[in-house]
Amino acid sequence: MLGGLEWSPRKNLPDYMKKTAQSPSNIAFIKYWGKTDSKTRVPTNNSVSMCLSNVFSTCTVEFDEKYQQDDVNFIDEAVVKEKELKRIYQVIERVRAKAGIITKAKVVTKNNFPKAAGIASSASGLSAVSMATAGAAGLNLDKKELSKLSRLASGSACRSIPDGFVEWEAGNSPENSYAKTIFEPGWWKIADVIAVTDKKMKKISSTSGHKIADTSPFYKTRLAGIPDKIAKLKQAIKEKDFTAFGQILEQEALNMHAVCLTSTPAVIYWSGATMNIISTIVSAREENIVEAYFTIDAGSSVHVICQQQDAAKVTKLLQAVDGVTKIYSNQPGIGARFIENHLF
Ligand code: DP6
Repeated sequence: MLGGLEWSPRKNLPDYMKKTAQSPSNIAFIKYWGKTDSKTRVPTNNSVSMCLSNVFSTCTVEFDEKYQQDDVNFIDEAVVKEKELKRIYQVIERVRAKAGIITKAKVVTKNNFPKAAGIASSASGLSAVSMATAGAAGLNLDKKELSKLSRLASGSACRSIPDGFVEWEAGNSPENSYAKTIFEPGWWKIADVIAVTDKKMKKISSTSGHKIADTSPFYKTRLAGIPDKIAKLKQAIKEKDFTAFGQILEQEALNMHAVCLTSTPAVIYWSGATMNIISTIVSAREENIVEAYFTIDAGSSVHVICQQQDAAKVTKLLQAVDGVTKIYSNQPGIGARFIENHLF
């Protein structure tokens, strides 16, 4: 016997603990596509994104002895996939292990936008869950640690923790792979006008797409070009050179989807509406109607990037496109934070 000095998990939390976090979705200008380690979500390349001001998730977590088991609830979601629930239960387990507690938790979460429409719901949702769970368990994590914790749940979620324009440094281990702010949200007045398309659910999850990215004959070529692309993109943001910035981000989106389309099996995210939006934006640019560029994540919806003074014009153009069901206009936003309004 060590006379009471043996380590044992703290049985219960000192007090009743409840925290609510709100976290934005983000749009990647340089994409995360492919991992060196699937389990810990260490990516093959750095990526660059922007937090979005108007599409976010809110999550309240409470650890309390009164709960017999972990309980996860989604507000306003008719169908919740097993896989999604599993990721949240894993966040709770991870945090419990870190905090050395065994208390059960109740989690309530909601999005202010439709899931799986091409807006990164896993990014906002799982970063909000990670931050609220860590906070409720009494862990006082800084942004770097929160970014790493979020990354374990969903790679892109690590980019929703810091504010504004963000770079996720791939690193080479779970310890040095996290995201940080490269420019504050107020740095540049650009907008992301998201055109949500009529196709409801994406068929291939991004997690599955990542796994087969290296089956594309173009994958290695893509990776070789990324450091230079990131350097040029960051320079364009620094100089507020919208044309250079737009050209890089649009080429990059096409580059990532070229890898998707040429993977085995092929990963096709675009619908007819996606093509309608692309041709509208390209024509508007060619005809000097408005300077805007498109980017697309793992879904059929399109993110149209323009300067804020042109956002209303872009919105109007997109409203007239066949297959567009909803539009969300965003500015560069702040990252995840705690809020006082609990969901239960
Ligand atoms: C196309 O973060 O959804 O949106 O780590 O498996 O959860 P997991 O993948 P996820 O991948 C997002 C891919 C992307 C590009 C990007 O956001 O960089």
